[in-house]
Amino acid sequence: MPQAVVIIGVQWGDEGKGKIVDYYASSADMVARFQGGNNAGHTLVVDGKKTILHLIPSGILHPHAKCLIGSGVVVDPENFLQEVEILRKAGIANLEERIYLSDRCHLIVDYHKHLDAARESKKAGKIGTTKRGIGPAYEDRASRRGLRVADLYNESAFEEKLKENLAEKNFLLKQYYGVESVSMESFLAKYKDIARKLKPFVRDVSAELFQAIDEDKKILYEGAQGVLLDVDYGTYPYVTSSQTLPSQAALGLGARVPKDTLFVGVIKAYSTRVGEGPFPTELTDAFGDQLRESGSEYGATTGRPRRCGWLDLVAVKYAVQVSGIKNLAITKADVLSGISELKVCIAYEYQGKRIHTIPADTSILSKVKPVYETLPGWNEDLTQVRNPQDIPQSLQNYLRFIENFTGTRINLVSTGAGREAVIDIQKAF
Ligand code: IMP
Repeated sequence: MPQAVVIIGVQWGDEGKGKIVDYYASSADMVARFQGGNNAGHTLVVDGKKTILHLIPSGILHPHAKCLIGSGVVVDPENFLQEVEILRKAGIANLEERIYLSDRCHLIVDYHKHLDAARESKKAGKIGTTKRGIGPAYEDRASRRGLRVADLYNESAFEEKLKENLAEKNFLLKQYYGVESVSMESFLAKYKDIARKLKPFVRDVSAELFQAIDEDKKILYEGAQGVLLDVDYGTYPYVTSSQTLPSQAALGLGARVPKDTLFVGVIKAYSTRVGEGPFPTELTDAFGDQLRESGSEYGATTGRPRRCGWLDLVAVKYAVQVSGIKNLAITKADVLSGISELKVCIAYEYQGKRIHTIPADTSILSKVKPVYETLPGWNEDLTQVRNPQDIPQSLQNYLRFIENFTGTRINLVSTGAGREAVIDIQKAF
């Protein structure tokens, strides 16, 4: 049994990681987030009740698990406090003892959200972001202008930094984008209150995790978004602004990942994407609409309809290569039940030649033609299947095909939204 599991998305996010994290979290002492922010949306269904979390790790619904938000995460404190309230109202106790927020996290503040929205409202250069201020907050981190959680507790330094930031941001907001600026006075008053409310959750997350690893505690690392949205290895510039690869788990929490760690990449049995950017296997026809409806493919954060398409194994194989993932969990296999023939993309065609990877020049990806292999589908209702030996033959073939093509092992098959709808092939954690 490994001491830790790192879970990441292998496609363009929305693979159903929340469900897989929730499954493994039943054995975990700590669940830790290491990148992204409230652009993520994890839908969990427990006892038929739906909970959507954006920032606080999904493990919070397991009463024994401590939830860590590492320094690699950008935190919108208002969103954080709203989620705390939702959880409190849902009867989840001892939140202050269970949620640890790193004092090194960068804050997403009002001007980040305004800048994100203003950029997205321009016609050219749209990324299709979640408009949560994620990109501008990471920009400030890299340019060393960011406000961090620890700054909230040093009033004079906070004010000084804010003054400098507002001079620049308000100029951009007002003069360049022609939108409303942010007032210093109301900002300071608001963040004073936020600082007080946030205080019980603020910790040295690195030190807490260091100790937990030393004590052989079981750790679950919860990735957000997916490899193809990674700022370096994704379909740049149509990506998020953080690193989504498993190596970010150590960096974004400030502690080593235990030697005995299982790395699990989550894929959906087909492909989806929200926002702009190339998507070679996208289905813009009635069948794409049918997939969206049967898979409830609407964004958990923004409610946007997700673009749907066949499983792109070229993209998955590339993601496996850059992330080093050897084990996969596959979700939403049930959504494909009843489709007689399933296509999987095994190469791209571009200017008469075949491509077998994701090219660095993203503009090529929007011009490629997918080359498909057709596999037989299955008709069986999967929602009650729990044992690996009960997996229908055609689904078994589909899984083997993915494994052989990508050089991975499939550990888990998720067959429905509920916590119990999982076929655990390996019983690894
Ligand atoms: P941002 O992260 O809000 O800057 O958005 C950048 C891109 O990543 C956009 O295409 C978003 O739709 C996408 N994105 C960000 N977070 C998620 C997620 O959790 N699931 C799926 N797509 C996401």
